[in-house]
Amino acid sequence: MKILAIETSCDDTGISVLEVFGKDKFKVLSNIVSSQIEIHKKYGGVFPTMAKREHQKNSVPVLKEALSEAGLLSSVKTQNKINLEKLEKILEKEPELLKKVVVFLKKYKKPEVDFIAVTNGPGLEPCLWVGVNFARALSYIWNIPIIPVNHIESHILVNCFKNKNILLPALALVVSGGHTQLILIKKIGSYKIIGETRDDAAGECFDKAAKILKLDYPGGPVISKLAEKSLADSMSQFLPRPMINTKDYDFSFSGLKTAILYHHQKQKKSIQKNKQYIADMCAEIQQSIVDVLIKKTIQAGKDYNIKTIILGGGVSANHELKTQLFIKIKQEMPNVDFLFPENDLSTDNGLMVAISGFYNKKNTVAWKLIQADGNLRIGKK
Ligand code: KG4
Ligand code: ZN
Repeated sequence: MKILAIETSCDDTGISVLEVFGKDKFKVLSNIVSSQIEIHKKYGGVFPTMAKREHQKNSVPVLKEALSEAGLLSSVKTQNKINLEKLEKILEKEPELLKKVVVFLKKYKKPEVDFIAVTNGPGLEPCLWVGVNFARALSYIWNIPIIPVNHIESHILVNCFKNKNILLPALALVVSGGHTQLILIKKIGSYKIIGETRDDAAGECFDKAAKILKLDYPGGPVISKLAEKSLADSMSQFLPRPMINTKDYDFSFSGLKTAILYHHQKQKKSIQKNKQYIADMCAEIQQSIVDVLIKKTIQAGKDYNIKTIILGGGVSANHELKTQLFIKIKQEMPNVDFLFPENDLSTDNGLMVAISGFYNKKNTVAWKLIQADGNLRIGKK
């Protein structure tokens, strides 16, 4: 069985082809990601209308590369006939994509894939629609069923790439640019959000902090790299750890962002540019976020007697978060398994959509029925 997967929920256009042998043996045929970082850098964050335009530009080239690498791209001798009117209707909000899709569909054979999996939420809605409408167009022309995929679930299930037998119940900490959620997993497909951020997401806090310090976007990787140069004493906590002692599993990072801003504004101009000061700031920002994430995760893990802790989302690429959480789990819950993705599978990509599609292959929908939903929620609170 082969799954073609499309991810456009934020600023990465990701397309992957996954082959599944037997019950659940995965072989990645391709996993191509086209990042828009260079474009959004100027704004210090993702600019949704520009991101939508970029997805329209990139989707067909990324698809071609993904199919070609998978050995599934072959051109036809005489051009395919397609129902242009119908395609125009499906892609009426994506005119740039339409042009490229028409050329592509006329030129290439239907690839041997069984399903098209696509992220339909949560995320930036204009961006989600590009992927969803692209999937609808391909599904209509090729007559291949669509599997809608929840972005948060795919950040969790990407961990099944290496670990098929997750001991349950499990607890997932999904930390990305748009989400910070603690999710209880009774079985794959059955989720309950037990805590989440009340304002900014952890990744958003990294990104906004970087902007305050005049560092590049995305802030997470930049801050964690600069933090390595810090000489600050780990005991000198000058930033708050918001909500660290509350009994719930919720988070709040917007106050931390404000505290970072005030602390920075209080420094003299010469200090603000000092490399050592920046490195120490970065270390403290990272540590305050990591401290809160770890405290709440361990607390929830103990309260719910869970057997596995799963990390996912862009912030799960953070080395300190992974190492410190690993150490804490070993100290306080030695029998609990800890799963986290490889760095390139932490941030948005097509393979996580394909894997999630595989576990949801019974939930196919007709191309006419799939909708994008920027606020789609995993399970129910
Ligand atoms: O999951 P993702 O690729 O996109 C969303 O679904 O939002 O996550 C992107 C977020 C950004 O906020 C970025 O700053 C953060 O992940 N991030 C990191 C690291 N790498 C990416 N945060 C901390 N440390 C990192 N190494
Ligand atoms: Zn994501």
